[in-house]
Amino acid sequence: MKDQIQSERGFRDIFVPEARMIERMIEGGHGLFRRYGYSPLYLPLVEPAELFARSVGAGTDILEKEMFFVGSGHVESPVEFRRLCLRPEGTAAAARAYIERGFGKSDPLQKFYYSGAMFRNERPQKGRFRQFHQVGAEILGAASPPADAELILLLWEYLAEWTPAEGLRLRVNSLGCTECRPAFKTALKNALFSQKDSLCDECRRRIETNPLRVLDCKKESCAPTIRAAPDISGYLCESCRAHFNAVLDTIRHENIPAQVDSRLVRGLDYYTRTVFEVEADGLGAQNAVGAGGRYDGLVEALGGPPTPAAGFAVGIERLALLSKRIEPAVFRIFVASTGDGTRQSAFEWAQRLRRELGADGGDITVLSDLESKSLKGQMRRAEALGCATTIIMGEEELKQGKAVVRDMREKAQVEVPLEGLAGHLRGLIGG
Ligand code: HAM
Repeated sequence: MKDQIQSERGFRDIFVPEARMIERMIEGGHGLFRRYGYSPLYLPLVEPAELFARSVGAGTDILEKEMFFVGSGHVESPVEFRRLCLRPEGTAAAARAYIERGFGKSDPLQKFYYSGAMFRNERPQKGRFRQFHQVGAEILGAASPPADAELILLLWEYLAEWTPAEGLRLRVNSLGCTECRPAFKTALKNALFSQKDSLCDECRRRIETNPLRVLDCKKESCAPTIRAAPDISGYLCESCRAHFNAVLDTIRHENIPAQVDSRLVRGLDYYTRTVFEVEADGLGAQNAVGAGGRYDGLVEALGGPPTPAAGFAVGIERLALLSKRIEPAVFRIFVASTGDGTRQSAFEWAQRLRRELGADGGDITVLSDLESKSLKGQMRRAEALGCATTIIMGEEELKQGKAVVRDMREKAQVEVPLEGLAGHLRGLIGG
């Protein structure tokens, strides 16, 4: 035997039942987002690395430690050399796509949803992978509080569809704007600098590069200094405060239990004003299941026209870890043959039943023999696969225009005319 090749650490194969759950969560998200008027957006897996350097930010974990670079980029001219990477998130790419398509001029308000794999070179642990899946929604071209509120309501409705809302905690904050945040940043920097000896190496370095990120440090030793540091709420300008209050009023009116947390910052630099995160019990250290916020400066920073925007993304693997939802059982039917004389008929009937029963929209699976097994072997396989019903195609019965329908649990069987077979099975599925 040759040496086995194994998957990379942090990259997984996902099988049923988790694969089915993830599939349903993604499909469910798409359906729900369409109801709110969002359009699907398919984004590339590979982007120029500079896109994330200019959006997510140079002083963030994603840029400093977690990028997956691919190959060496491509050379368009002898002097132009671009580095490519696997996308770590979707927001910057959605903003790039919006600019490239010229929506700013033609049709500025756009609502998109997307889903798919994201890549971050993080240390794998429960709920944290190097390749994971997100479902996300973005509104570009809307500045007013109802856009933030709609996104928060949508995020909450989506999560609550899959996991009990009592186990979720929604935290919201405002990070201010280019008018009011600089004063907060300076005050924070000064406060952290005066206590720098009590901070870890990383926080000490970040006092200069990205002081807001210090507030997110989880180390015990940094906690007292962080607790004593100033918080943003005292620094918000009048219009940021009014915006934040309007968002809070709207979501509270809809009975969304939002907690204001003036220490909430995000791991990406593009945010302005509203930010939010939903945490859940049962996820271990990686307890955020979905998060987002407003990013009014991003489109402009990427070379587009000034465009207010906001959005969120949900980590699907984390949502699957939380979900207690029992999936409806699939009704499985096996179409067996008694030997070579009826194999072709059994195959054809399986095809026909898939078409006829599938059209009803129910969750059914029709299987047939792919290994030329004996009838006994096929029955064993049907049982192992959890089939509720096996249809046995025998030569004699087929000649008479009939088939045997066997109830696998009751171990009872009846003969059914072929023309009434689909109807008979519909009765079994329904009952
Ligand atoms: P984020 O907070 O970096 O935001 O990621 C959103 C969600 O993705 C997290 O809450 C988490 O559930 C999931 N996630 C992140 N990293 C991992 C990982 N390594 N393994 C498994 N799940 C993970 C964003 O990505 C922003 N683009 C959200 C956004 C959209 N903001 C505005 N629009």
